[in-house]
Amino acid sequence: MSFDVILPFLRPIAHLILDPAITEVMVNGSGRIFVERDGRLETVAGVTVREQNLRVAVRNLARALGDDISEERPLLDSRLPDGSRVAAALPPVSLGGTTLTIRKFRTQHFTAGELVRLGTLTAAQLETLHRSIAARDNILISGGTGTGKTTLLNALTAFLPERDRLVLIEDTAELQLEAPNLVRFEARREQVGLPAVSIRDLLRATLRHRPDRILVGEVRGGEAFDLLQALNTGHSGTLSTIHANSAEQALTRFTSCVLQSGIDLPYAAIRYGIAQSLQLLVHLERRHERRLVTELMRVGRYDARSDSFDMQHVPGGAAGDDACQIHLAPTSKPVPRR
Ligand SMILES: Nc1ncnc2c1ncn2[C@@H]1O[C@H](COP(=O)(O)OP(=O)(O)O)[C@@H](O)[C@H]1O
Ligand SMILES: [Mg+2]
Repeated sequence: MSFDVILPFLRPIAHLILDPAITEVMVNGSGRIFVERDGRLETVAGVTVREQNLRVAVRNLARALGDDISEERPLLDSRLPDGSRVAAALPPVSLGGTTLTIRKFRTQHFTAGELVRLGTLTAAQLETLHRSIAARDNILISGGTGTGKTTLLNALTAFLPERDRLVLIEDTAELQLEAPNLVRFEARREQVGLPAVSIRDLLRATLRHRPDRILVGEVRGGEAFDLLQALNTGHSGTLSTIHANSAEQALTRFTSCVLQSGIDLPYAAIRYGIAQSLQLLVHLERRHERRLVTELMRVGRYDARSDSFDMQHVPGGAAGDDACQIHLAPTSKPVPRR
């Protein structure tokens, strides 16, 4: 169990960390403790942590994770082996006392069929995605935090042909996929004495390992440029996710990620490149405690004059609305939130 590394330092809140219903544990500078349970914040009454103890605990757990937090480096952003995050801030940066936040890694895996049954997407949408993967379209899944992007990506990997050599690149190894010819790369943050290895570094390295398909867990920065390059040089059939508020905004966000790479390309050229390289956008939203595909769109041509993409809704793409109605009907059973 991965929390074993840090529990010895956090005895007063160990029960909260171990409670599977709690997704986040927060200790404020004041020593007050909050948790997130079922997506809601709760105060934890009757438990406090003394500042002095918390400060020592945070230093020790940082060390146990191969990191460091001190007066010179007062911010900790560390990960447990399972991907859970431990963030801390020491005074005086954190006013009034040490702040500690533990965000538990908890992605339950759903198959594509289960996602259809949950009403996240329709069978027709799934069929479109299946065919699109077989046709080696490049697919980008967008949505806000926790909308189920990674979960959908994971479910869709079941449709990847067995004969393909897959290279999967992630910030934190989250996806669970089984494939006969699979190479997995995980980025590394900078740590004491160890330089960072970025998604971008890994993407470039990937091209030397003869990939048939490159999967990128999430596009968040300059690697978007390298991904476009790879897609333009025959490595099609990619699946990836991006943080955005709508399918169209996903393209804007992708553009700004490409710009972050520092390449010297005209804006319109980047947008043309995106229109050529991405074929399908799937957008997810969280509504009434459910995750829904609210947009499934084909990316058409880019028009530089209006700076817009010709986007076409894939028929049967209104799953979100149907599912919402099912959810709101008085006879419907609530779907357990995970
Ligand atoms: N379709 C879904 N229905 C119910 N729960 C889901 C669904 N998709 C994801 N989840 C749950 O929501 C949480 C966040 O999912 P994740 O895929 O990591 O989101 P994202 O990648 O968008 O941040 C996880 O706990 C996951 O199990
Ligand atoms: Mg994700």
